[in-house]
Amino acid sequence: MFGPSPKALHPMAGQPRVVFLNNLNTNPHIEIGDYTYYDDPEDPNNFFRNVLYHFDFIGDRLIIGRFCAIAQHVRFVMNGANHDTEGLSTYPFFAFGNGWGNSIPPSLASPKPGSRLDTVVGNDVWIGYDATIMPGRTIGDGAIIGAKSVVTQDVEPYSIVAGNPAKCIRKRFSDDTISRLLTLAWWNWPAEQITQQLEHIISGNIDALEKVAHGTTDCADRSPLNEE
Ligand SMILES: CC(C)(COP(=O)(O)OP(=O)(O)OC[C@H]1O[C@@H](n2cnc3c(N)ncnc32)[C@H](O)[C@@H]1OP(=O)(O)O)[C@@H](O)C(=O)NCCC(=O)NCCS
Repeated sequence: MFGPSPKALHPMAGQPRVVFLNNLNTNPHIEIGDYTYYDDPEDPNNFFRNVLYHFDFIGDRLIIGRFCAIAQHVRFVMNGANHDTEGLSTYPFFAFGNGWGNSIPPSLASPKPGSRLDTVVGNDVWIGYDATIMPGRTIGDGAIIGAKSVVTQDVEPYSIVAGNPAKCIRKRFSDDTISRLLTLAWWNWPAEQITQQLEHIISGNIDALEKVAHGTTDCADRSPLNEE
């Protein structure tokens, strides 16, 4: 056995509150990697209500990697949330039609390059309860987002951020270890290989993982994570 099937909607026995999100996704503007789960005791199958102001005509995408853990009430605010702020009024007259339909603000009609960026969450990211991710942010692999945080800036891989606005509390590992983890990208390994190396993944034995990746597995190696 090599872990749950990524095609299982409720992969955790006896816990219908947990869903593998890619099995719920039908939106072509959303991509979610295998094993990424959402935990919600109230309404887990309705995760996409948490992706706010995500309108097809804007075209921005929400991309979430593999093996992410997303807690209840995490929200992704997409670019459609932002009214034009360059005119004299932020009121969206055009949306109401009836003679106002042509009054599309220039910033919406011809958006500046980079003004409607995709929201990108890497792999192995843990997003805590009730956190909010603002439009167009990138959260790096291995990051942790604290409960009730508001992410207004990009988050570096393997950093822990918290608060409103979310600030870096600390990096999880040394820069050298982070670089090695990003190179290993164990989350892209086949399920069989991940299963075989789980002991090292959960204990932090990066030397052993690197040996596996390089095809020189030494099963006797149980050295702890090499931190500077
Ligand atoms: C972010 C988190 C992982 C940090 O845990 P930790 O490494 O043990 O951090 P600490 O508790 O030592 O706190 C470190 C600092 O960050 C602050 N902090 C921690 N979590 C915070 C949060 N969510 N919002 C604001 N500040 C936070 C602490 O007040 C502390 O500040 P200080 O240094 O000024 O005293 C944890 O606090 C958290 O939010 N976990 C998410 C839990 C959750 O939502 N789970 C959902 C089910 S999966």
